[in-house]
Amino acid sequence: MMRPQLLGLLGIALAIPLAQFADGSETPVATTAAADEVSFKKKVVPILKRRCAVCHITGNEPGNMALTPNGAYDSLVNQDSVQSDLLRVKPGAANESYIVHKLKGSQAQAGGLGDRMPYMAPPLSSTQLQLITTWINQGAQNN
Ligand code: HEC
Repeated sequence: MMRPQLLGLLGIALAIPLAQFADGSETPVATTAAADEVSFKKKVVPILKRRCAVCHITGNEPGNMALTPNGAYDSLVNQDSVQSDLLRVKPGAANESYIVHKLKGSQAQAGGLGDRMPYMAPPLSSTQLQLITTWINQGAQNN
């Protein structure tokens, strides 16, 4: 029979590693696949809403796209760019997606024109750009 004091110590020893997982920073290998899948609605839409939808509102503005939460997916995925021969978002191929060139400032090399996006504003962070390219390379799902 284990003494109650020993059971208490065991409880503390188990609680410490569990607490580390709870905040998500020390996640074990087993959860990596799920954590790496970029959700369009949770990760990409908030960036577009904050940085793009101030100008790309109804689809009638220059660029002809609505990048609002409700309009963005249909305006981007498998849609022809008005400035280049590329698709705005080609599922599985970020390098051939015009939006990525517009965000990096390589639109001219990609056969397009105009300025880097967001227009007249600081570029997206490398983390934000990475989220968008990963989402495209994972198939640009409406997830
Ligand atoms: C201040 C207004 C403004 C903001 C903010 C803005 N854009 Fe634009 N966007 C424009 C204008 C104006 C054009 C057309 C002229 C140009 O391309 O330089 C354009 C064109 C585009 C095009 C070309 C569309 C096509 O079919 O070829 C893309 C793609 C684009 N924007 C994406 C974005 C994204 C993504 C964001 C947010 C990260 C963004 N824009 C933020 C004003 C804006």
